[in-house]
Amino acid sequence: MKTSMKISSFEEYKQVYQQSVEHPEQFWESIANNFLWRKKWDKVLDWNFKDPSIKWFQGAKLNITENCLDRHLEALGDKPAILWEPNDPQEHHRVLTYQQLYDKVCQFANVLKNNGAKKGDRICIYMPMVPELAIAVLACARIGAVHSVVFGGFSAQSIADRINDAACKLIITADGGFRGNKPIPLKNIIDDALVQCPTIERVIVLTRSRTPVSMIKGRDVWWEDEIQKIETQGNLECPPEVMDAEDMLFILYTSGSTGKPKGVVHTCGGYMVYTGYTFANAFQYEPGEVYFCTADIGWITGHSYIAYGPLSQGATTVMFEGIPSWPTPGRFWDIVEKYEVNILYTAPTAIRSLMSFGDDVLKGKNFSSLRKLGSVGEPINEEAWHWFDEKIGMGKCPIVDTWWQTETGGFMISPIAGITPTKPGYATLPLPGVQPVLVDENGNIVEGNGVSGNLCIRFPWPGMLRTTYGDHERCRTTYFATYENLYFTGDGCLRDEDGYYRITGRVDDVLNVSGHRIGTAEVENAINMHSSVVESAVVGYPHDIKGQGVYAFVVCPNKHGDDELARKDIIMTVSRIIGAIAKPDKIQFVSGLPKTRSGKIMRRILRKIAEGDTSNLGDTSTLLDPAVVDEIKEGAL
Ligand code: WTA
Repeated sequence: MKTSMKISSFEEYKQVYQQSVEHPEQFWESIANNFLWRKKWDKVLDWNFKDPSIKWFQGAKLNITENCLDRHLEALGDKPAILWEPNDPQEHHRVLTYQQLYDKVCQFANVLKNNGAKKGDRICIYMPMVPELAIAVLACARIGAVHSVVFGGFSAQSIADRINDAACKLIITADGGFRGNKPIPLKNIIDDALVQCPTIERVIVLTRSRTPVSMIKGRDVWWEDEIQKIETQGNLECPPEVMDAEDMLFILYTSGSTGKPKGVVHTCGGYMVYTGYTFANAFQYEPGEVYFCTADIGWITGHSYIAYGPLSQGATTVMFEGIPSWPTPGRFWDIVEKYEVNILYTAPTAIRSLMSFGDDVLKGKNFSSLRKLGSVGEPINEEAWHWFDEKIGMGKCPIVDTWWQTETGGFMISPIAGITPTKPGYATLPLPGVQPVLVDENGNIVEGNGVSGNLCIRFPWPGMLRTTYGDHERCRTTYFATYENLYFTGDGCLRDEDGYYRITGRVDDVLNVSGHRIGTAEVENAINMHSSVVESAVVGYPHDIKGQGVYAFVVCPNKHGDDELARKDIIMTVSRIIGAIAKPDKIQFVSGLPKTRSGKIMRRILRKIAEGDTSNLGDTSTLLDPAVVDEIKEGAL
């Protein structure tokens, strides 16, 4: 049986949802039948959340790129797969049809093979948002190599940690990249990283910025030269590697509440079905529509909803190299107009930042092509929701507020565009196959409506993570050990009287800064590496544009220079250790941190102070030194 990828009415949603909960295996099987498999599964699902062990479509054989490329060639070969908009609007944009993308992926897949890559090898990708990034990702999948994309804003140290964690053999990068008026010296950063990475045998370097870079004989090769070799050899086709449904597709590192980022692992079959289905359904994608997701492929949003999801559905996906505000604050809107974008998927932080330029920027821009809007990454405040709805959607475009995570692979709670009645600030209702529950502080599931709790999922879905790379126990303890038989998301949530879900934000020590996940422990570790710092505590505070800002309380008795200089040194240290995205927005020097007698930092108090709410700090009597609180209150920034 085959179920349609798209639901066509709210009534149908309710029916399909019900079926998907009562007969999940039958439901997902009927969705999976919409894809191209070399061999179908022996069993739809095998699972337990205790170990955890999750296997979807066991015994099935496939290659995700056959679904994203080969199967479209006949009908869509000359239709655009990728529309690429460069950072500089003066530079030519590029159009890659499905046929061209297919050809380029095959050729680069052969380049990877020529350079020693095999099925199962881990390949790190650190690239700007150019079509070659999508090509590199798909070429890895083509040959069954596991990609680990690292966002261009991470430092050499972060790249090295990720390369070493996965023992990557190869890295694909570019000489440099452009974001706004900032050139990014990608290859230089890679060279710094590679000092610490013994497993890397080969670096493939794309020419993008033509900045001078060092090229080491025997290790570094140019992308273009390698393609040339393939052409000379006439080695242009690359048959897809036949993969098991549960073979690893990629690793993507993400921050948690403790320690170093963990490598979330997604597998071929389930991820393909889940991203394809949720893309087609939630956005109600119609053939020929132009879809623009403003994320970077370095994050899960780009993996699932710039690359794999849209391409498996034969969509036209826009890739933008730059930033929303350069060279003018109207850049996004120019892109919408230029490509006649029908679906625009962006983040609340971008919306708020564009709102802040004022509505004059919107004058003369043409939004008439837009049909559907989407939001992701953090809770969207009502003001931003209404602005997006009225000023950009002209009151006629449904907004899909998609709640999901790196770990979930794809949308979990989200409206279906034009079908689910929306409410500002609400991700609305679970998509078919998703069974959310709210759990109270005692670990009991709270039933009924008009309730809140910690958001968990009680049944597997095909796009969920399978493990954290090299450390399955960490996967178990992080997601499956807090509540028995439930996947714990780390988010707080309320379910209103209508059964609608509203995500209220993280309940763990993870910050959401401009829609990027940042672990407070990670930032503290980075700050503590500064030679004059004794200890530190990092919390979030409400930030108008970023959603949350990073507030650091730092004990630094022997500053080298004045406070301002010491702050800059600390910021520089964090940029070196993690990357510019984790820089504290505020640094307050304190003589000590509020700790309990057992030495635990009372973050609750620091959070309140950072939020500027010092009226009621709660019980401070258990503190080792209550006086320190007054000092911190007085010095608050
Ligand atoms: C938050 C990004 C509210 C949430 C896809 C989650 C959201 C974390 C929403 C995952 C939303 C994402 N409404 N909060 N629509 N979407 N979040 O792994 O806290 O980078 O746990 O995945 O972002 O961030 P990640």
